[in-house]
Amino acid sequence: MIRTRISDLLARTDFGAEVCVKGWVRTKRGSKSVNFIALNDGSTIKNVQIVADVEKFDEETLKQITTGACLCVEGTLVESQGAGQSVEIQATAITVYGTCGADYPMQKKGQTFEYMRQHAHMRLRTNTFGAVMRIRHNMAMAIHRYFHEHGFYYFNTPIITASDCEGAGQMFQVTTKNLYDLKKDEEGKIDYSDDFFGKTTSLTVSGQLEGELGATALGAIYTFGPTFRAENSNTPRHLAEFWMIEPEVAFYDINDNMDLAEDFIKYCVRWALDNCADDLDFLNKMIDKTLLERLHFVVEHDFVRLTYTEGIEILEAAIKNGRKFEFPVYWGCDLASEHERYLVEEHFKRPVILTDYPKEIKAFYMKQNADGKTVRAMDVLFPQIGEIIGGSEREESYEKLTQRIEELHIPMKDMWWYLDTRRFGTCPHSGFGLGFERLILFVTGMQNIRDVIPFPRTPKSAEF
Ligand code: 4AD
Ligand code: MG
Repeated sequence: MIRTRISDLLARTDFGAEVCVKGWVRTKRGSKSVNFIALNDGSTIKNVQIVADVEKFDEETLKQITTGACLCVEGTLVESQGAGQSVEIQATAITVYGTCGADYPMQKKGQTFEYMRQHAHMRLRTNTFGAVMRIRHNMAMAIHRYFHEHGFYYFNTPIITASDCEGAGQMFQVTTKNLYDLKKDEEGKIDYSDDFFGKTTSLTVSGQLEGELGATALGAIYTFGPTFRAENSNTPRHLAEFWMIEPEVAFYDINDNMDLAEDFIKYCVRWALDNCADDLDFLNKMIDKTLLERLHFVVEHDFVRLTYTEGIEILEAAIKNGRKFEFPVYWGCDLASEHERYLVEEHFKRPVILTDYPKEIKAFYMKQNADGKTVRAMDVLFPQIGEIIGGSEREESYEKLTQRIEELHIPMKDMWWYLDTRRFGTCPHSGFGLGFERLILFVTGMQNIRDVIPFPRTPKSAEF
């Protein structure tokens, strides 16, 4: 018999039909005469209830049906008598594909997220992680659809690279050299000429620089790929391996860029509300009771836009009025998450886009303002998350860009290909990067970024 996915089955009303479902047992309860099995196959947060009359099955089979076991069930679709479900299956045949012992790590309900992280290979079978992973998939679909519908081309940038886009030096090195037998020159420097690529290479921290090459040829592109940062940040918002979406658009200035960011992120959140209702209801009930309210709020309200300098003034005024922060606030400081969240959650009570940051705390490629102090950067700050997007208008002047590269002592010879965009038909352009997992954090209401990616990579942790 053909298998029906449980999500499809629960929508059916052709009672009396013979059906087949396959999945994993969530719970079994029952009496001497009848067993009720809640079966889940990952297609939906909802289980289907299997009703098994004890007399129809041998004792051995029924004994093997424990939490976590995998079953194939054939039976008749019937209208449910119980509350909470519309249909159930009156079982006629049950095959146990895989038994599941009492040492199954997801046996008990209400385990901590920390415990589940240690068993991340099995946590996907829980309700919470099922919901998060289905939403994650839906967000990826929304992102591709948004850009496709708006004339952007999906552009793949390299994962192995010889340039440090953000200039922060937090890169994972890629080498095939024998680390036990490293050849060094007279100065004690490692000779990379005989390494795989003939030079030092690393995993990318951003596809932006190559993305700019795409945008200044195709008009508008976006990347969506894995990104790596060897920053030793043990926070609920940082991963060493995360996914980033980076649109880049020719002829956009900073205002067009902000409009794009706001429209794009609202589209994604609306997509979740329209397409992930069951999973969001579950998360709203179990994880965060204000989740749905927050999602609706974001799609329905304009983001506040102000400069970094205005943001600092607000924070300084708050401190004067007695508000305490862990980190100091002064013009020129890099805002901490607590400052960003103050602006969003307490002061404005809505998403904020901060622009025109001091050039010292931003990357070399950002367009310099006439004041000589600030650059046309934009960070989108979200409730609960802090920075969800970072971007800018790009410096299109060859002279200004090379001068900044010199000031920052970035090796110019490695940048020749990037600088060629400014030598050959340069143009105003802008773009930004959205951290995919930060978006998933926001949309699911989960508290820790390690719980919105199947297999998190963080300092001292690369299990599974
Ligand atoms: O602000 P960032 O560093 O900007 C860039 O990489 C630019 N090249 C983007 C661009 O203009 N094309 O990173 C962009 C976003 C951040 O706002 C944050 O959401 C996310 O990437 N992000 C991280 N997410 C998880 N773990 C980390 N360690 C992250 N670092 C940045
Ligand atoms: Mg940033």
